[in-house]
Amino acid sequence: MTVLAIDAGTTGVTSLVIAQDGRVLARGHREFPQHFPAPGLVEHDPDEIWTATLQACSDALAAAAVPVSCIGLTNQRETVVLWDRATLRPATRAIVWQDRRSAGECDRLREHEPRIRELTGLPLDPYFSATKLAWLRGNLPEVWAGVREGRVAIGTVDSYLLARLTGGRLHATDPSNASRTLLFDLATAGWSAELAELFDVPEAALPEIVPSSALIGRTAPDHFLGLDLPICGVAGDQQAALFGHAAFTPGAMKCTYGTGSFLLVNTGDQIAPAGSGLLSTVAWQLGGDPVQYAVEGSVFVTGAAVQWLRDGLGVIDDSADSERLAASVPDSEGLIFVPALTGIGTPHWDPRARGALLGITRGTTGAHLARAVLDGIAYQIRDVVEAVSGTAGIPVSRLAVDGGAAANDLLCQIQADLLGRPVVRPETTEATALGAAFLAGLAGGVWGDLAEIAEVRGGGRVFSPREIPEDGYRRWLEAVDATRRFGS
Ligand code: G3P
Repeated sequence: MTVLAIDAGTTGVTSLVIAQDGRVLARGHREFPQHFPAPGLVEHDPDEIWTATLQACSDALAAAAVPVSCIGLTNQRETVVLWDRATLRPATRAIVWQDRRSAGECDRLREHEPRIRELTGLPLDPYFSATKLAWLRGNLPEVWAGVREGRVAIGTVDSYLLARLTGGRLHATDPSNASRTLLFDLATAGWSAELAELFDVPEAALPEIVPSSALIGRTAPDHFLGLDLPICGVAGDQQAALFGHAAFTPGAMKCTYGTGSFLLVNTGDQIAPAGSGLLSTVAWQLGGDPVQYAVEGSVFVTGAAVQWLRDGLGVIDDSADSERLAASVPDSEGLIFVPALTGIGTPHWDPRARGALLGITRGTTGAHLARAVLDGIAYQIRDVVEAVSGTAGIPVSRLAVDGGAAANDLLCQIQADLLGRPVVRPETTEATALGAAFLAGLAGGVWGDLAEIAEVRGGGRVFSPREIPEDGYRRWLEAVDATRRFGS
């Protein structure tokens, strides 16, 4: 038995065919364009996401050449998509999680932040979906009229792809995705009428909330590659990655290095009060079981900083070159890069912070810059770990990592050194897609229970921490302070 996992990420869609023993039998990957219409704005064309999904799935299925038992879907979270219920065509471009345009809406609603935080576990920040919907309501009245009249559906990327996969039969999301919208009540695990009213979003335009692991629906053959397959899993990509690490018990954690990086700690059926800029969020819901929760630290720019080295500055030709270039120097010679290219998330939540490069000399080279970028990624994760182990009081003995940049040995070593704790990298670093497959396969009969999945998951390579001078972290904190003062 095999599972088709679809990971609709921020810059591309990856599709994996996963065997019962956890092996990746085949993969397809298609990037889709990023639209940056003005500074701080990031958009996707939902049609382009759907086309990339079809192509990635078709490539993986052709390469695997085996029948698939069920589908698991996972996705970039918070990004809002609006589409016509009848034609499934987008009503406008998707506003991406990185987009900062709704900072003004957040300022306007600031007095309600304590109540919003109490209900949702989230701060009021442009990162989250409802602020983007508030912007759409105010700025695209013709699109919003469609929402009010019931012609236009609202969702995150999972909802949009479920609608596309099923030919419009489903308008659904799971609690892990819903918990990122600012419209979801963590305690009742349902949409909050109070928040829908506050953000002025009609509840009827929101998707139905279904479990993360259950028979959710079936693909429509005339829409999806001629296939009629059960869709048995759906979750936000970071929660799926937590599941993909088999982090099933309270205290288990992981950090995924993607476009951004997200550290999640399983808190079981407890909603942990999150201080220090950490979030409380839903981990997943398995069938009719109670919803499980997590604490999260969100870092917006990590892999995107390597992409910026490649596409923005042309310092490297390929993202993988960042390791070779950074490893060609022993350290950054005091150069510090603060990757606040789209504001700062945990622990500061400052949407107006800007990126910074401090300590440049005549001797600074592209290699020092590449090294400072890897350091900047790892420092941000150290900030999150400080919050998790400090304020939240959750012991961190080691950190399991995954995602594209986890393939970078140097980054894993720098991370272990900066944390003073071992970093563990599993054999398959595509934990997100694997998690989506596990969620689907659990409901679809591929795996019998969580213990079976944990066995399939296996161990990994350990990077042990080396002694490093502590003053680097102090200088990092000073650099973050400086960039925040500059942005305000
Ligand atoms: O919250 C945003 C996150 O879901 C994006 O993940 O892997 O596309 O960077 P990724």
